[in-house]
Amino acid sequence: MSGTLATWPDWPVFTKDNSEGSDDLVGFKRAIIDRYGEEALTRSWLKVCQSLERATDHIARNGSTVIPELDYHELFSLDNEKKEELKGVGCFVVRNVFSRTQADEWFRSLKEYVSDNEKNINGKKSLTGDEYVGGKRILTVDVGYPQPKPMMLNLYYSPAQIAARTHPNQLKLCRELNSWWHDDTARSSPEQLCYSDQVRIRQPKRPFPSLGPHIDAGSLCRWADPVYSSVYAAVFSGEPELLDNYDLSLRQVADQALFKGAAQSTVLRAFQGWTALTSAGPGQGSLMVFPDLKWGIAYVMLRPFFSEPQEKKDLMDASKWEFDPDTAWFPGTWRDDSQLLSAESHPHLRLKECLVSIPHVNPGDTVFWHADMVHAVEVEHNGTDDASVAYIAATPTTDLNKAYIKEQLQDFLAGRPPVDFRRGSSEVNFKGYLGEKAVLGGDDGRRAMGYYLLESV
Ligand SMILES: [Fe+2]
Repeated sequence: MSGTLATWPDWPVFTKDNSEGSDDLVGFKRAIIDRYGEEALTRSWLKVCQSLERATDHIARNGSTVIPELDYHELFSLDNEKKEELKGVGCFVVRNVFSRTQADEWFRSLKEYVSDNEKNINGKKSLTGDEYVGGKRILTVDVGYPQPKPMMLNLYYSPAQIAARTHPNQLKLCRELNSWWHDDTARSSPEQLCYSDQVRIRQPKRPFPSLGPHIDAGSLCRWADPVYSSVYAAVFSGEPELLDNYDLSLRQVADQALFKGAAQSTVLRAFQGWTALTSAGPGQGSLMVFPDLKWGIAYVMLRPFFSEPQEKKDLMDASKWEFDPDTAWFPGTWRDDSQLLSAESHPHLRLKECLVSIPHVNPGDTVFWHADMVHAVEVEHNGTDDASVAYIAATPTTDLNKAYIKEQLQDFLAGRPPVDFRRGSSEVNFKGYLGEKAVLGGDDGRRAMGYYLLESV
């Protein structure tokens, strides 16, 4: 089926033998078992695996066509049915957010910024990039990676990135996406805040194995933080069908950064996303997703509570899996990393058939995926041209997000990389650096950057 990988990459496989073996892990499992009980967890497990049979059949049959595509202007007048479809898949391409001319100009400007400041971007350290030791990803890099010519650049404040983040179309789009979440406590607002993230330029024919299947917004904290685990109460209490992935009421105070680590984002991004600065199609170093939000995350949350059957032939039969309150293993989970997945550790997701590439994107298109979404970056780029994206997420205004954005702005003004990254050089002395002069959108752009937060006590 179109959009799946012909050959599964050499991404790490997660097993008990290469796991984080810390004593406190069993305690986090037991706390949830004590609260919800074996019967509810088992009921949920059976329901989720059954729903996944249907969901994965659908994805395996339809591949990339499952991922919705729509035009920028359509996004603001969706009927309810279409909006629910997009929310259910959890990932979609929004086309023509920017003109091709605009995106081409940003890419030209970015490349010039990179080439003018190359020695500072590459750094002085001789690092090979992310490395896996016994399945554990070692995030050693504090310069771009992979070396010697990085593709994931620790740049946050090039004029092109700032402009793409604060352009009125981006602000309007992200505000709309933030509004797809609801908050019964009325403490938040959908007003967009600009999370400063990295930028990627992939050269063709160079493999990039570092971002296999994973979910961001923390890993072990989803179980260990009592607030965060309560976000998934429906899943633990035997009613996974009631999980509402768009409820901000509790989610906004969940601690995604309970365990510090280079892969953690402090802010809740309603949707992660990137803006395409070039075109890129399947097989050209693009994004892959497991396009079923609810059942994907529900399965990941339940997986640590069940052990696979002895007989390999029973692997896909959920009823043959054993409830396991005693094993200190959260598959693919290291507290300081993103939640990682492999086809072997999470078999009911059928990732080899159901991790599908997003459709071809053109310069100026964007893609967004929900904070709970399983995704990966293709290892191979078989195209002929550079493929470049600026990571720009839909980030709602919540108390925790505001606190981070205020700190991020202070870092920006002081010439430091943002606090979630702390990797890379200060850009203030880079050739072509414009600082806040690059902010578009007038007062709206400055507001999204958080300038108003500096004035508040
Ligand atoms: Fe990611």
